[in-house]
Amino acid sequence: MAFASKDVTKHNLPTRNYFWPLKRYQDMYQRALTEPKAFWAEQATLLDWDKPWQKVLDWNPPYARWFVGGRLNASTQCVDRHFKSWRKNKVAIYWEGETGATRTLSYADLYHEVNAYAAALKKLGVGKGDRVTVYLPMIPELVLVMLACARIGAIHNVIFAGFSAQAIADRVNDSQSKIIITSTGGYRRGKILQLKEIVDEAVKMTPGVEKVAVVKYTGHDAAFNPEKDVWFADYMDSSCSYVKPESMEATDPLFILYTSGTTGKPKGILHGTGGYLLYAAKTMQWAFNPKEESIWWCTADVGWITGHSYGVYAPLALGLTSVMYEGAPDYPAMDRWWRIIEKYGVNIFYTSPTAIRMFMRNGEEWLANRDLSTLQVLGSVGEAINPEVWEWYCKYVGYENCPIVDTWWQTETGGFMIAPCVGIQSYPLKPGSATLPMPGIDPVVLDPDGNESAPGKTGFIAIRKPWPGMLLDVYGSPELYQQTYWSRFPGYYAAGDYSMKDQDGYWWLLGRADEVIKVSGHRISTAELEHAMVGHAMVAEAAVASKPDDVKGEAIVLFVTMRKDVEPSGELKKELIKHLRTSIGAVATPEEVIFVEKLPKTRSGKIMRRVLKAVASGIGIGDVTTLDDQTSVEEVVQAYEELKAAATKTVR
Ligand code: WTA
Repeated sequence: MAFASKDVTKHNLPTRNYFWPLKRYQDMYQRALTEPKAFWAEQATLLDWDKPWQKVLDWNPPYARWFVGGRLNASTQCVDRHFKSWRKNKVAIYWEGETGATRTLSYADLYHEVNAYAAALKKLGVGKGDRVTVYLPMIPELVLVMLACARIGAIHNVIFAGFSAQAIADRVNDSQSKIIITSTGGYRRGKILQLKEIVDEAVKMTPGVEKVAVVKYTGHDAAFNPEKDVWFADYMDSSCSYVKPESMEATDPLFILYTSGTTGKPKGILHGTGGYLLYAAKTMQWAFNPKEESIWWCTADVGWITGHSYGVYAPLALGLTSVMYEGAPDYPAMDRWWRIIEKYGVNIFYTSPTAIRMFMRNGEEWLANRDLSTLQVLGSVGEAINPEVWEWYCKYVGYENCPIVDTWWQTETGGFMIAPCVGIQSYPLKPGSATLPMPGIDPVVLDPDGNESAPGKTGFIAIRKPWPGMLLDVYGSPELYQQTYWSRFPGYYAAGDYSMKDQDGYWWLLGRADEVIKVSGHRISTAELEHAMVGHAMVAEAAVASKPDDVKGEAIVLFVTMRKDVEPSGELKKELIKHLRTSIGAVATPEEVIFVEKLPKTRSGKIMRRVLKAVASGIGIGDVTTLDDQTSVEEVVQAYEELKAAATKTVR
């Protein structure tokens, strides 16, 4: 046949280039920027709405309200709609306790439990708009209580179970919670965390708390005060199988989560219902490309934003199966996590650089006998991932077969801002770069004067347009909201990080530009630590800086001057460390305490932070010509030399 004998290389058709680099991603990105309302309206069909919105976005800077007039309930999105589908018997959560106890919750189980908890909360007097403080270990009840709050329209305020009594009290008082939900305890590295005891301490400082509802988990005898304490189980009624979900406005608050900023007091970041949920779910799809059958594991504690968005809300809204693990990564041995991945056949694994560095330091032999071949995508969050750690993660955990999704975002942003969009299109990754912005995110690098920086130049990262996951407000403090995020560069959301965009448009996140320290990925402000430290009767002044740490990323270095007649000693040092741990929590433990006669200050009395940092990190003072406040270079150098001398002489 003539047709068959034709030379296929000889034709007159034009050459077609089927390889369009980044085409799919770029088209979507462009559309989200140029037609944000149409774009987000299309995306919003991912959720089931009780009532459609009238307005996609109401942008009244600095307040953005998404899907105005629309109504939905977050627990319905995460539970009911799956319960009513074939997913009813699909596993929602594989839970594993530190002791090896396990629980498997299907979407049907989740449905029954969330309803039962919602009924119990109502019986406890919790209603729509009430704030509920939750202080629980990583057990399923934590998720159930969050969803039960969402079901009845209450605002949950989850506090990481490593925080101290004082830290709880501050957050309870600021959020005006009348109820705290806790458990008898939890397990960590083989020991019992005395959570109830810590709450009892906190309650002495929270006059507004009427009830403490306790989940029985650890079997030990926890103190019980009949005046305020109740067993949660006593309020659960098995005959009550359905609590009608409150139909919430998309713009109604879903939760408060406290985080550190530049002030001494943590800020209550307030997130909404519709925009937040949609943004968390969509970004999870775009970044990680989960399939219906994927097993997802986000190792973050639910007490942090990562656990809220990608441990609870996004995977459940998408009807996925997640793993939830209670305990320490190295308990009883350094291979616990790898055993969990193997046991449950985890496909997508999302963790922090701190954890990876710890594993790296302990050697790849811990992975040698494990089969991690089910893994398809790996994620990282919390701080920048160093390229050599990226490589190690890629090689030993991902068998060089999984993209590494480095996600840059914040408590305030609700979901990923910059991360590879594996779910939209695969494109080259650069170890150490979070790559490209999510659709709808318009970041810029600004110089200190607010002008846009050229590619390759380091500056402050700011966001030009609102996005659905953006915080609603700082709870109880619109001034703080305005001042913290919108005053540094008027018209832009200032994230507080240094960043650089390279010639290819890839983003490199270079750490905090403000006085926030990241210890093992946990956010702590120097002001918060200093404020807690001067609360000690013997301390006159305190200043905190950080130094680089191979595992934790950054470690806390504390400089203190003592009151008159107080002699520095090893005992005193221990006492100061203990004071910080009880004021904030174990994350606030300083690596070094340096006793000094005086702190380095400028003429107007401001602490010379660069001098502290230079001494703490051991890097040296370098170029000091740009210091303000008319303090001369000689004065700075002298302050540096004095502080360095004091540091070498300090009591060890
Ligand atoms: C830092 C955690 C570099 C950053 C989700 C940010 C990162 C702060 C990354 C927010 C990353 C988080 N690369 N830096 N992939 N992810 N950060 O509120 O400094 O606990 O401002 O939210 O963590 O911390 P937060």
